[in-house]
Amino acid sequence: MPKLIVVTRDGTEHVVEGDDGLTVMEVIRDNGFDELLALCGGCCSCATCHVHVDPDFADRLPGMSEDESDLLDSSDFRNEQSRLGCQIPFSAALDGLKVTIAQED
Ligand code: FES
Repeated sequence: MPKLIVVTRDGTEHVVEGDDGLTVMEVIRDNGFDELLALCGGCCSCATCHVHVDPDFADRLPGMSEDESDLLDSSDFRNEQSRLGCQIPFSAALDGLKVTIAQED
């Protein structure tokens, strides 16, 4: 299974595995990280799955929709690496991806 590196808010790195076909948000949630609230369950309406993605993987990620960008605008912690975890399908192509859970707004 492809690996995802999750950096929690205290800066600790955790290596987890995720099934192809899940989203990055689902992989994080299903591995028990309760810092990532994912309140809307992945329908791109809450922004509580905000993560910062390793820039080395930027060109392997799907483009950002207007809705995703609008939601990220509501965060004080948005930067050029910001994405919503529920909008990134996880797959073997992203093996080794590192994401940092964004600070809570
Ligand atoms: S889980 Fe709500 S926007 Fe991603």
